[in-house]
Amino acid sequence: MSLNKKSVDDINVKGQRVLVRCDFNVPLKDGKITDENRLVAALPTIKKLIADGGKIILCSHLGKVKTEEDKQTKTLAPVAVRLSELLGQEVKFVPNPEVVGPNVVEAVNAMNDGDVILLENTRFRAEETKNGEAFSKDLASLADVFVNDAFGTAHRAHCSNVGVTQFVDTAVVGYLMQKEIDFLGNAVENPVRPFVAILGGAKVADKLNVISNLLEKCDTLIIGGGMVRLRVKRLDFHLLMTARLIIVRKCLQRLTPLARNSFFL
Ligand code: 3PG
Repeated sequence: MSLNKKSVDDINVKGQRVLVRCDFNVPLKDGKITDENRLVAALPTIKKLIADGGKIILCSHLGKVKTEEDKQTKTLAPVAVRLSELLGQEVKFVPNPEVVGPNVVEAVNAMNDGDVILLENTRFRAEETKNGEAFSKDLASLADVFVNDAFGTAHRAHCSNVGVTQFVDTAVVGYLMQKEIDFLGNAVENPVRPFVAILGGAKVADKLNVISNLLEKCDTLIIGGGMVRLRVKRLDFHLLMTARLIIVRKCLQRLTPLARNSFFL
């Protein structure tokens, strides 16, 4: 499988407003970023668009936003600070409780070619996770071109990565998305055998389909990371009483017949 989508290499965005969906869902402790891998991974696409002379409008979600208190702790402000340092130029943070609003429009209109701004956490708008039309249109109204470089969010159908594409003329993928699709496609479709896959991450329920598919294709599947902690908890009766872990238990039971060649580290 190779990428059959247009990428940032197929366009030049000189003078154009470019909305870039990144995955800046980074871990924060006391307002400090504790793992900046996702910021570093986004740099090649951002730098290419700056070099073209585009007006770069970055957006991302950060964590789950369910309460008003979440809005205090899940702001993308620290990301703008660290991205400015990594890029060596200002990434202006333009917060708005509705993500898009008059101050954002004003900031975009004032941008020069090569400038970069960052919007507030897209999940501050409740419609984001419902792929609602109004927010998708709001986001699209800021841009001439949309770039999706949020590989870590590709399994979600939300306004900022799916809905928005219906309301822009040009939508392409960034380098990170391209790299991951090319790499995964080759590894899974034309594997060198024995084919051993190592799967990490925390959210086992989200990865069920991935695990099922990999079990069909690979010789050995090794699962590590946070998913394993959930499996250990599965044995605890009291924790099993929580809905989340009941779901996880059911998920793991469904996989058991396929899982003879699998190891939980
Ligand atoms: C992730 O960290 O898995 C992605 O950023 C998606 O986050 P989500 O599970 O909150 O949608």
